[in-house]
Amino acid sequence: MYIEVYVEVRAHIYMSRVMLMADPNIEALFRPRSIAVIGASRHPGKIGYTILKNILECGYKGKVYPVNPKADQIMGLKAYKSVLEIPDEVDMAIVVVPEPLVLKVAEEAGKKGVKVLVVITSGFSEVGNVEAEKKLVEIARKYGMRVLGPNIFGVAYTPANLNATFGPKDLRAGPIAFITQSGALGIALMGWTIMEEIGISAIVSMGNMCDIDPVDVSHYLADDPNTRVITIYLEGLKPGQGRRFITEMKKITMKKPVIVIKAGRSKRGAQAAASHTGSLAGSDQIYSAAFKQAGILRALTVEEMFDWARAFAEQPIPRGEKTIIITNGGGVGVLATDAAEEHGVELVVPSGKLKEEFRKTMPWFGSPKNPVDLTGQAVVDNYVKALEVAYESPEIDNIVVLYCRTAILDPRDLAKAIIEVAKKHKDKQKPIVAGFVGGYDTYEAMKILNRNGIPAYPSPERAVASLAAMIKYMRYRKKKEK
Ligand code: ACO
Repeated sequence: MYIEVYVEVRAHIYMSRVMLMADPNIEALFRPRSIAVIGASRHPGKIGYTILKNILECGYKGKVYPVNPKADQIMGLKAYKSVLEIPDEVDMAIVVVPEPLVLKVAEEAGKKGVKVLVVITSGFSEVGNVEAEKKLVEIARKYGMRVLGPNIFGVAYTPANLNATFGPKDLRAGPIAFITQSGALGIALMGWTIMEEIGISAIVSMGNMCDIDPVDVSHYLADDPNTRVITIYLEGLKPGQGRRFITEMKKITMKKPVIVIKAGRSKRGAQAAASHTGSLAGSDQIYSAAFKQAGILRALTVEEMFDWARAFAEQPIPRGEKTIIITNGGGVGVLATDAAEEHGVELVVPSGKLKEEFRKTMPWFGSPKNPVDLTGQAVVDNYVKALEVAYESPEIDNIVVLYCRTAILDPRDLAKAIIEVAKKHKDKQKPIVAGFVGGYDTYEAMKILNRNGIPAYPSPERAVASLAAMIKYMRYRKKKEK
């Protein structure tokens, strides 16, 4: 069972229209009507066992067919000797048999009319077995079938309760899609996203990318109403994939923000990437320039990627540049100011009238300039009043709210108050991010904020950097839309 079901009725209606236009083979990757697991195992601990178990236990509503010539039944389902014996159409076939059997079962899947083959099996181009991978693609082309992988951990799509991976069973549903060329990192992050209150729409393991690549998947997700932001862990592209990546990503970033973490930046890292997925890491500067051209936001760490994604997932895209910082601590205010300058975030210089408004929200020794310093004496009421001023003022486009733990203000109470004010002013379309510094109760407060749509970070710098990513994206879109 997914921890949280992400329901959006209006989006659903829109989706049926959009899906009519989507590539049916790629759609089968996210919304298959039926799945065959070729190599479904009777033995707990095997990958073919775990994948079938995850599919069944996560609430997938379509038909599931285990394929295993040695079994009559697996997990209470009739097992078939071959995919060809299944008395039904099969949209997706997941391949979990050892490499020497893959081409044979792929040929059978092609004959059966399978739309998409998800090849978990390792032992292809990543270890120099280029020939077998080429043949796999030839078979797929012959039958008009698409291939994800090989050498992957699978695919998950929370709106369809689909978890066809051998990663953790549970996923927290939400609007962030994650496409990853690293299997192990992808699996590890599945658990991490739950802990960090990050809601996922899709996780797609790319592996060797013999056929389906991040562009195919991103095109689908760009039109998917359940996805608001696309994140990609990329090690490199194969020769010939680069130009298409940039041309197509230009179209995709006009629909949704795309954040890429490109690993293999260093010389040694690039060598490691080559032996991991057989990719060419290429010159790092070339990647940077190309990403910029395509409107892709480049994150340098996994933490940064999900920080930014969290902001895009929960907040509206900024409409303007002018940002206000509201804080109870001078120090964190200064750090946020430094971060703003470093990231090119414009801090509004409040007019006399606005300063007067802020003045009313604080003790006489506070500061109504930017950062607005409510002082260490601040309680919930001060924050609420200052936030009201910020939301109401036409001088302000974006809000950074900071908090340092004091014994007179419980951060959990503040979190709840921020959520209420933000809700009340939702129509203003002003993005807000929070930076909360403190101990356990502050961490709890951040969880409350994150669960309720306010991106919260444990430092002022991370809060500002996340807002900066959104502003950068806004600038790109505005420039291109002219
Ligand atoms: N059709 C269907 N099933 C078959 C066939 C066939 N023709 N022939 C055999 N099987 C069955 C087997 O009997 C077995 O079922 P059983 O356990 O009930 O007997 C099942 O298919 C699996 O076959 P095994 O020979 O037991 O293979 P095993 O499970 O050991 O390995 C696997 C298969 C997992 C695909 C392995 O070869 C492999 O590639 N492992 C690596 C996978 C991986 O790590 N991918 C990258 C992920 S990303 C990351 O880094 C995390």
